[in-house]
Amino acid sequence: MEKVGILVVSYGSRAAAMVDAFSRSENYAAEIYVADKQKNPFNVEKAKRHVVIPDLNVEEICEFAKKYEDHIDFGMVGPEKPIIDGLRDVVEKETRIPMICPTKRYAIEGSKVAQRYLFQKVAPEVNPKFKVFDPKDYISPGQVRKNLYAWLDELDNKVAVKPDNPAAGKGVGVWGDHFNTREQIFEHFLANYEYGPVIIEEKIEGEESSFQAFCDGKHLVPLPETRDYKRAFDDDEGPNTGGMGSYKDVGAILPFMTSADREKEIEIMNKIFKELKGKGSNPGLRGIPFYGAFIHTSRGPKILENNSRPGDPEIQNLLPILKDDFVDVCFKILDGKLTRVEFEEKATVVTYKVPPNYGGYATVFPERVNRNEVDKPVDLNGAHELAEKYGNKIRIYPASMELREGKTYALKSRTVCVVGIGDDIQSARDLSLEGIKAIRGGALWHRNDIASREHIEKSVRHMKKLRTL
Ligand code: GLY
Repeated sequence: MEKVGILVVSYGSRAAAMVDAFSRSENYAAEIYVADKQKNPFNVEKAKRHVVIPDLNVEEICEFAKKYEDHIDFGMVGPEKPIIDGLRDVVEKETRIPMICPTKRYAIEGSKVAQRYLFQKVAPEVNPKFKVFDPKDYISPGQVRKNLYAWLDELDNKVAVKPDNPAAGKGVGVWGDHFNTREQIFEHFLANYEYGPVIIEEKIEGEESSFQAFCDGKHLVPLPETRDYKRAFDDDEGPNTGGMGSYKDVGAILPFMTSADREKEIEIMNKIFKELKGKGSNPGLRGIPFYGAFIHTSRGPKILENNSRPGDPEIQNLLPILKDDFVDVCFKILDGKLTRVEFEEKATVVTYKVPPNYGGYATVFPERVNRNEVDKPVDLNGAHELAEKYGNKIRIYPASMELREGKTYALKSRTVCVVGIGDDIQSARDLSLEGIKAIRGGALWHRNDIASREHIEKSVRHMKKLRTL
């Protein structure tokens, strides 16, 4: 079998799912070189070479790539930080390794303000009402407050506050979730404004879906829709997280969506793609430059934001059921020849297990935390036994987890996810939950309602109601 060397830049179970998909290639013997944020047990086991770069800085990743340049055919990147920091530009300049991710210029995730202006230009109908408050236009504290309050009057206080830079300040805050008074909005706003421009936009009511697409610079190939569960606790309570789980239905759309919703999303993303691509092709857009968070409303889909990388956990819903060989997909992306990809007609459900402090769980539910287990090793054996029992229908992808002297420990972020694959959402969910419950130790916890029948029915009812407005 032909050997192929692949560089994977990893943070979390999203990259473990990529490594898994490459390792399962039937057309190539994949040798994987992983630059990882930590000693991820899955990646360590699968990789030919593995290096830990805790801050995933571009220079060190590039050094690693350079060291194995003669063995690596291409690279792929999971997390946003190195993409936004221009990893592709540096690696392609310093080595002959082509990278599958957008260049710095096309990593539009880096600026929420630039995204809003871009959407305004090409698809204004999907933008909520928004205003940008830029410290460059600063006059006085009183004036900033006056301008902000005038805008809050127009939106009846129902707003989302978003810093331009995804990593700056206090992050996104939403009326009703993070604040209930004007003063609280102002406080949240100021905490972000200190670092740079802040968007104050209309809060949108609806049901969310995640749109992802592969791109070879010439073609945009939409992937099936997924639904992310952002809030920490059951019934969508608690703070926003990186995502506690997600689901995908058997086909390309979700139970609360119509095919017209999907077509509209594809139309919008193609408009954005064409605007950035210009005439012909633009290899700068290679990878997953468009992972759009959509919200379906009484006025059709609106866009919350765009990310320039695969979603976590959303890509874990898709890679395990990709019918095409993932290595072939990557070669087609590099050749500008990816016109379609095929998926098995399966539903998938991802559930994450996370540490006691994640999402403030230990503070809100102290009585639920098993203190004897905190910081103790996490045992994945039970889940692996189930994966064997159920064949390929369960996948276990460690995330913020570290291998230490033969044992695995949870770090601070999401620890490990289990993907269940089934003929319908509920059977996929049963497998995901069975796998997650078989993971012991570390005082880890998970949401119990990811893809539950009740949760999905609620979304369907909500959309029905919105559509009649
Ligand atoms: N699922 C949220 C994210 O990947 O940003």
